[in-house]
Amino acid sequence: MRLKLEGKINSLYVQSLCMMFFRGEKFPVHEDAPRGELTVIAKDESNGIRCQVQLVYDGKAVTSEHFERFNDCDKYERISKTCIGHAIFRACSDLTGYLPPWGLLTGIRPSAVASELIDKYGNEMAYSILKDKYILSAEKAKLAIQVAINERQIINKYDNSTCSVYISIPFCPTRCTYCSFISYATDKLFKLIPNYVDKIIQQLNDTFELINRLGLKIVTVYIGGGTPTTLSCEQLERILAIVDKCIDKQSLVEFTVEGGRPDTITVEKLSVIKKYGVNRISVNPQSLNDEVLKNIGRRHSSYDFFNSYELVSKSGIPVINTDLIAGLDGDTFESFKNTLDKIIELSPHNITVHSFSVKKSAQALQDDKGIYNLDGECAINSVDYSYSTLIENGYIPYYMYRQKNTISDLENVGYAKPEAIGAYNVLMMSDEHTVFGIGAGATTKLVRKNGENREILRIFSHKYPYEYLQDNQNFNCKIINFFEGRSNDENN
Ligand SMILES: C[S@@+](CC[C@H](N)C(=O)[O-])C[C@H]1O[C@@H](n2cnc3c(N)ncnc32)[C@H](O)[C@@H]1O
Ligand code: SF4
Repeated sequence: MRLKLEGKINSLYVQSLCMMFFRGEKFPVHEDAPRGELTVIAKDESNGIRCQVQLVYDGKAVTSEHFERFNDCDKYERISKTCIGHAIFRACSDLTGYLPPWGLLTGIRPSAVASELIDKYGNEMAYSILKDKYILSAEKAKLAIQVAINERQIINKYDNSTCSVYISIPFCPTRCTYCSFISYATDKLFKLIPNYVDKIIQQLNDTFELINRLGLKIVTVYIGGGTPTTLSCEQLERILAIVDKCIDKQSLVEFTVEGGRPDTITVEKLSVIKKYGVNRISVNPQSLNDEVLKNIGRRHSSYDFFNSYELVSKSGIPVINTDLIAGLDGDTFESFKNTLDKIIELSPHNITVHSFSVKKSAQALQDDKGIYNLDGECAINSVDYSYSTLIENGYIPYYMYRQKNTISDLENVGYAKPEAIGAYNVLMMSDEHTVFGIGAGATTKLVRKNGENREILRIFSHKYPYEYLQDNQNFNCKIINFFEGRSNDENN
């Protein structure tokens, strides 16, 4: 679909809106043509901005117009975005009959917007603004407000003298077809694991020393992946023992190991994990439909999941999380409902409901399974059912994020029993908490208060384990400069 844009218009924003309605299309901007399939004209007037849209597609044509008044609260860019967004949204939804549930919110966490609105106007007004100005459905506006309130409770507990540590173990027993995370899953690449563990231990020692020097207290540690329980008992123990030795237990509130794949969990590994004070673990079915598990290349059955879950519950690790995915290849609403109902019967402390998303690296996309054409109806019903049923069963939505290329533009939501909210998940997403990332693919996010403002610096490790092993990246100078308020320009 060709775009013709006239006036002060951000073409990336227009493209991201169009993508919600016309999946798989490209949206080149044609500067010289008099008109495109989508023509957008934005003009400043004395008291606001007016945007006119004409859309011609598939033999149909629609027009729309929106006027947004200047106001004292919002900057010009925001007013312009709202104005252009409304006009395009109306034209596209009139033509396609589709109303994206998250309205104009693209490329930003809904709870971050909700949180800002709550701070300024309170809960009720924030809810109305999300519905009217950002065109969210009533259900999604409510969800965004609930998550923002629950997130805030966690964020407020930890001030700038605290931080968290993330340890990345990007290895898995086999590769699931839908997965877009970087993770090594072949015997040849498993040969890197011993060196990888050595390097992680070295980096952990350095990082703990640095954290001490900076006077920060570690409040959460998260060992994620990949599948950390792909490591042997000995390898896991070496990593856990360093954390145990170097961390002040008084300040540590949460220590998570993402077990994940049921086929990697053993009694021996659980006993090592428990011994070193881990108090939260994931064991993930994704689905309890064996046909779906086969479709997505998980090397375990629902029976294996129940066995592993039993081992984990008997291990004495206090908090258990289970991950599910709505909208998987071959799944139906009835089958997802059955999965969720059975998981609720187990009563885990956390249930995370992801919506199926496809990234270019996923095997399923390379196999050309027509993933973009998957019927979103099953995912929409599954996500709606998860929300209402989990609330009914005493769970609260406490963190949420959205990704590109997700079926029906849906969200990923972490639900928890109120006393067992996963703090790391909230803190790592907020712009108010420092996280040190260890290992390949890990991101370090530094946050520092400068007067009334907050400064954030993100530092990225090498993505792939083999790059991480070859190159001795050392970010200590950069980190110290940041916390001591010195410029890092020459290092960037
Ligand atoms: C980093 S993965 C690690 C979990 C662990 N290796 C496992 O598979 O059980 C975290 C979670 O992301 C979710 N996930 C991964 N790929 C996804 C996709 N393409 N769409 C939606 N959710 C996805 C899954 O629910 C998975 O449990
Ligand atoms: S979903 Fe989990 S187990 Fe499967 S490949 Fe991705 S990270 Fe590994």
